[in-house]
Amino acid sequence: MGSWPDNVGIVAVELIFPSMYVDQTELESYDGVSAGKYTIGLGQDRMGFCSDREDINSLCLTVVQRLMERNNIKYTEIGRLEVGTETIVDKSKSVKSVLMQLFEPHGVTDIEGIDTTNACYGGTAALFNAISWVESSAWNGRYALVIAADIAVYAQGSARPTGGAGAVAMLIAPNAPLVFDRHVRGTYMKHAYDFYKPDLASEYPLVDGKLSIQCYLSALDNCYQSYCKKAESLGKNAVNLSSFDAIVFHSPYCKLVQKSVGRLAFNDFKRSPDDYLGLEKFKDSKLEETYFDRDVEKAFMVNSQEVFENKTKPSLLAANQVGNMYTASLYGGLVSLLISKDVAALAGNKIALFSYGSGLASTMFSITVSPDAGENSPLNKLVSKLSHIKPMLAARKCVSPEKFTAMLSLREKNGHKAPFEPEGDIDHLFPGTYYLTKVDEMHRRYYGRIPAALNGSA
Ligand code: ACO
Repeated sequence: MGSWPDNVGIVAVELIFPSMYVDQTELESYDGVSAGKYTIGLGQDRMGFCSDREDINSLCLTVVQRLMERNNIKYTEIGRLEVGTETIVDKSKSVKSVLMQLFEPHGVTDIEGIDTTNACYGGTAALFNAISWVESSAWNGRYALVIAADIAVYAQGSARPTGGAGAVAMLIAPNAPLVFDRHVRGTYMKHAYDFYKPDLASEYPLVDGKLSIQCYLSALDNCYQSYCKKAESLGKNAVNLSSFDAIVFHSPYCKLVQKSVGRLAFNDFKRSPDDYLGLEKFKDSKLEETYFDRDVEKAFMVNSQEVFENKTKPSLLAANQVGNMYTASLYGGLVSLLISKDVAALAGNKIALFSYGSGLASTMFSITVSPDAGENSPLNKLVSKLSHIKPMLAARKCVSPEKFTAMLSLREKNGHKAPFEPEGDIDHLFPGTYYLTKVDEMHRRYYGRIPAALNGSA
């Protein structure tokens, strides 16, 4: 060892989501809101959700085993395991320790890492921990495995259509095809009560919707400015939207992401107004006074429409089809981007990523994609292992809003019950999915697994 490892980044990635979804058009009608509010106003088409058969442990068990099997990785090759989640089923025992069930049969117990929590940012903090480990004197030459996973459910009301669920697993190592850029991370952290979960017996957050949007946009402004300053200090060129081939965001709902691209264009305009024709009247508009300024929002959304279509929309597939996956949302966006283009078109790309967690914690960082798109290249291997995502999205079961509401009520009722036997059907679960079989009187949770590869989709 001894030498500084080069090109630390993602060598393999896996995304899972629930096998059931509710259609947002049907939900609009069921909720009695005006047609288009969820689909056009929020930009959401489908929302994935779990029955009482799935919890945070089962989602994480599934995504870890899937990644290991699909990429032929041995458990002995993993030296660190990090979990980022805000879905808490136990105030003491970590999800990481539950995942040790998969490692112990292979004699693997020398494995660092634990859970990290701050709303939707925990996955990013877990990822940064993993990168630091690989770059440190503690690194033992093995892979780090990072899991970002959540079940996002809201009480009945305006936030409910912005739920979702999912998990992403990322294998981190040197000489990766997706390399994390050094010295450019721009972070912004503050104290805010925009979204939080003070009721430890409930899966639902308390949300100040308007404040959460303001916090998200102000975090975006601050992280982008910090990122640009750091990136510019490394080179000669100005950093702006044209510096990136793709821009991926944490996506609470797709419309906010589209507004965020406009917001970045507004930031670029503030730094270099003479480059923007016809927008002079916004020269004196201040960032901190315009979070809900309709004129600024519209002008810069129109101005950045092409940037959104080309550089961000491809990353919104999972967000639009599954919904907010909290910690997994940003990385579901990265996976969506990776499956949207030919490998040759991805090669050499610069990808900006914005991670936001309420409360608040946020970072903008970037990835440089390896220029080698050859048939046997690590990039080709990584992307080819994601060909199942689109067929699996299409293979999900559509459930009526009535049944969806009933299943959420059941989760509400039984969330912390012990002893408890789940009622949910397991027939619809994807092959290879772990599911909860029972919770005993000591609150210990037990899981079964649907046999893997019953069909080609797992
Ligand atoms: N057709 C088209 N558009 C419509 C329609 C319609 N029939 N009806 C409403 N709209 C538009 C509205 O004009 C609005 O657009 P705008 O955002 O450009 O103003 C949009 O749909 C949403 O409508 P609102 O009335 O603003 O929605 P509401 O206030 O009921 O709820 C909110 C939206 C606050 C985002 C809510 O869903 C929420 O609280 N979600 C959870 C919090 C969240 O996701 N915050 C984001 C960052 S924090 C995080 O990641 C959790």
